[in-house]
Amino acid sequence: MARKKIIAGNWKMNMTPSEAVELVNTLKPLVVTEEADVVFCVPSIDIIPAMEAAKGTNIQIGAENMYYEEKGAFTGEISPNMLTDVGVKYVIIGHSERREYFAETDETVNKKVLKAFEHGITPIICCGESLTQREQGITIDWIRQQIKIAFLNVTAEQAATAVIAYEPIWAIGTGKTATTEQAQEVCKAIRECIAEIYDEATAEAIRIQYGGSVNAATAPELFGQPDIDGGLVGGASLKPDFGKIVNYK
Ligand code: 13P
Repeated sequence: MARKKIIAGNWKMNMTPSEAVELVNTLKPLVVTEEADVVFCVPSIDIIPAMEAAKGTNIQIGAENMYYEEKGAFTGEISPNMLTDVGVKYVIIGHSERREYFAETDETVNKKVLKAFEHGITPIICCGESLTQREQGITIDWIRQQIKIAFLNVTAEQAATAVIAYEPIWAIGTGKTATTEQAQEVCKAIRECIAEIYDEATAEAIRIQYGGSVNAATAPELFGQPDIDGGLVGGASLKPDFGKIVNYK
């Protein structure tokens, strides 16, 4: 069965709750499609108003982060039950900005991935190399390690439903998109890694996105690659251009 594309926006720390409602209202007629799942991952405080605004549309609202404990003395964190209680089905885990500024590691990513599955939330698991790592020629080794740790103790059934976002750090917010060849090469390697950990069927089912300066001009070629099943879009997801990215064909 062909994999359905998944095109997600990552709003990062942008949009107040009232701006979020406005943006959803602006984008909802532009992102109509039956060919892809469309997800807006928004700041925690925007989840409820964005969800209200997206009611009756094809837009699904996701979270940008989640903690791996059920509840308790973890000031400032958001729990899986808080997300599922309002109907959240997707959560970004291990974005490079969280790894860089908030001390996330492959190990905390794994804990969060396991917790998300336990609660029936689909994790969008981020991986990606730095420019130095790319120049050192260790990109594939690095990504394989990130993937192997992220999926520790994850079952094949769970893994088949996961989303992986390959986001080269040097391409995020820089306007410097990876070339189609670079993006396809790594996404293919990720699929092969999943096949090694699990089996071919799981590798064929899992969806792998590319992220990093995706825009309306670069989306068609990127999303047309055999191992790229859509994108995780930052800056351009806050603009009407996101409609063009979703309807890239
Ligand atoms: P940009 O699309 O702004 O480069 O951000 C990519 C990203 O980090 C999505 O998670």
